[in-house]
Amino acid sequence: MSIKRIALSTGGGDAPGLNAVIRAAVHAALNRGWECIGIREGFNGLLFPERYSDGGLIPLTSNSIRGITHLGGTIIGTTNKGNPMKMPTQREDGTWYEKDRTDDIVQLLKKQNIDALISIGGDGSLTIANALFKKGMRVVGVPKTIDNDLDKTVITFGFDTAVSFATDCVDRLHSTAEAHQRVMVVEVMGRYAGWIALNTGVSGTADVILIPEIPYDIERIAEKIRQREAKGRHFSIIVVAEGAKPKGGTHSVVSKELGRAERLGGAGETVARELQEKTGKETRTVVLGHLLRGGTPTTFDRLIALRFGAAAVRALDEGQNGIMVALDPPTVRYVPLEQATNRMKTVPLDCDTILTARDLGISFGD
Ligand code: F6P
Repeated sequence: MSIKRIALSTGGGDAPGLNAVIRAAVHAALNRGWECIGIREGFNGLLFPERYSDGGLIPLTSNSIRGITHLGGTIIGTTNKGNPMKMPTQREDGTWYEKDRTDDIVQLLKKQNIDALISIGGDGSLTIANALFKKGMRVVGVPKTIDNDLDKTVITFGFDTAVSFATDCVDRLHSTAEAHQRVMVVEVMGRYAGWIALNTGVSGTADVILIPEIPYDIERIAEKIRQREAKGRHFSIIVVAEGAKPKGGTHSVVSKELGRAERLGGAGETVARELQEKTGKETRTVVLGHLLRGGTPTTFDRLIALRFGAAAVRALDEGQNGIMVALDPPTVRYVPLEQATNRMKTVPLDCDTILTARDLGISFGD
């Protein structure tokens, strides 16, 4: 079936590069004579048009995508609340349950004469995209996350920007840590994978890196700080992934609400408190949090995002369906969504970045 009209959706936490994907995809589509529609905030624009003054669906024209390549965020909005596969829905008796609304999405897309969907998102959004594909929608996914935890692609856009910014922050913390002879604990995002913490910690020459893949022993970290003290290094920098956990323990959760993933947080504060107790050294925590998701994408992320956006349209043009575009250097290739979703790419314990860190004398608290 030939394509006349496509829809674009951005879902989950935003990542620098989303607008670059939109721009490349829309240009490539317009060049083929296709019409492009942006769905506001994931699939909310489709499911809840009454919430939007413009009806929730916006035409994406060459005008609307002008000058957005370098902008963070997403011009069509995103959400990580109300997963349409688990939409919080109220029963008549007032209680809530999670309802699968993917059938409704397929119907609504067809009603809007949408021939194909480009879904730009992380594991959650791509799992929804796969469900829509299985229900008859023509779908191509574009992998996005600052966490870099998506399988079957070497990298996702947003990750490089997040690591570059976090490394800059660690660089800045060195001087103040040394001036005050403190331990500085820097907590970074990444969910259940330690990619951001690992790459930031190695690039920023941290003394300790704590990642979910290597549960830590607080005594080992305290020992590292004492050793540094003995050598006359009266300050230390510790990079902690938000998903880091102690040996025999679990990661720190702030909250779990219906229809959304659990919120992580507090890992850095726990490490800082326990270290201060153990070493007697003044210890401060900096949580970088959402700062890692903002700002201008690095050149690396822009290029990946532009390549992914254009490749998604080429894939549709070539008749591909139910696939995700993925970076397999030096090229972009297609991987079935089924193979890319519902799994997580965590840091392999024998990867050379971990080996490098150990060779540099960085402790993982193990
Ligand atoms: O998945 C991206 C991510 O930034 C995670 O690193 C983090 O745990 C989560 O999103 C935070 O999401 P929210 O926007 O709900 O705070």
